[in-house]
Amino acid sequence: MKTPVVVLISGTGTNMAALVYAAKHPDCPYEIVLVASNNPDAPGLILASAEGIATFAHPHTGLKRAEFDAILDAEIRKSGAQYVALAGYMRLLSPEFIANWRDRIVNIHPSLLPAHKGLHTHEAVLAAGERVTGCTVHVVTEALDDGPVLGQTEVAVIDGDTPETLAARVLIAEHQLYSRCLAGFVAAATGPEALIAQVRARAVALPEADEVTSHGMPCWGIIKGKKFAYVSNDHHGDGKVALLVKISGVEEQATLIENDPDRYYRPPYFGDGWVGIRLDLGDNDWDHIGEWLARSWRAVAPPRLTKLMSIADEF
Ligand code: GAR
Repeated sequence: MKTPVVVLISGTGTNMAALVYAAKHPDCPYEIVLVASNNPDAPGLILASAEGIATFAHPHTGLKRAEFDAILDAEIRKSGAQYVALAGYMRLLSPEFIANWRDRIVNIHPSLLPAHKGLHTHEAVLAAGERVTGCTVHVVTEALDDGPVLGQTEVAVIDGDTPETLAARVLIAEHQLYSRCLAGFVAAATGPEALIAQVRARAVALPEADEVTSHGMPCWGIIKGKKFAYVSNDHHGDGKVALLVKISGVEEQATLIENDPDRYYRPPYFGDGWVGIRLDLGDNDWDHIGEWLARSWRAVAPPRLTKLMSIADEF
């Protein structure tokens, strides 16, 4: 399944269009599920609608920054988007919004950051007599045009360039760069290794838990004791990444599968005491996964350990 992404625009939206068209390729790991704008007249909204993508536009005038961003946040959550891509979004985001989407907002900027942050980058490049400029895709943090760089493309300045001719050429480079960087970023955060790392962090935090490899799968158990979790990664070519945990038995297994057949499944070879929980659907609730792991741990932990946990729970 492709990772759902929202694109925020304020204007023409050619970078948004580049992201949309790149996402049409079957091997692209993201899809654009919403294009949102603070400018109801943004031309990019028409293109997005024509491509069958949901759009949302709300003028920011008269609203405090945090108020407007709360409206945006609610709309993005409704869309199911997991990542936010800024594409010519000409409004600063509130610290609350950035905190809510930490490490899940990316931006494109028309300069080789950290050079020329803010507006009028092409004028600044020409005024400084620089021979090379370019564009940068980066993760958004509270500081303007800052945050870890995901990729850059250099663009040569040509004698006689004006800010307009330079902007037009840098824009071509932007269109090539953005989708590659977004695809790489999303794949790194949602690929099997990243999912296993999320499970690992929670599994090894449980008392006396350690990791081994079992049947080629990363597996967590009580030291010298029983196993309580596995991650199945394309096991026998089934194409799934899933967490396998202990459950009470066949009835619970059937109920889970019936209520959410896309997420839960009966793991082959494991029997009725286990359930498979898909981790590759792009919407993981990691606190909930942590609860599944703790419960599975309890099911196999010796009494001397579960007693300690029960005492700890009372405080
Ligand atoms: C692009 O050049 C983008 O890098 C820039 O606005 C333009 C939007 O064009 N963004 C910024 O300057 C953000 N600081 P587009 O609407 O055609 O994608």
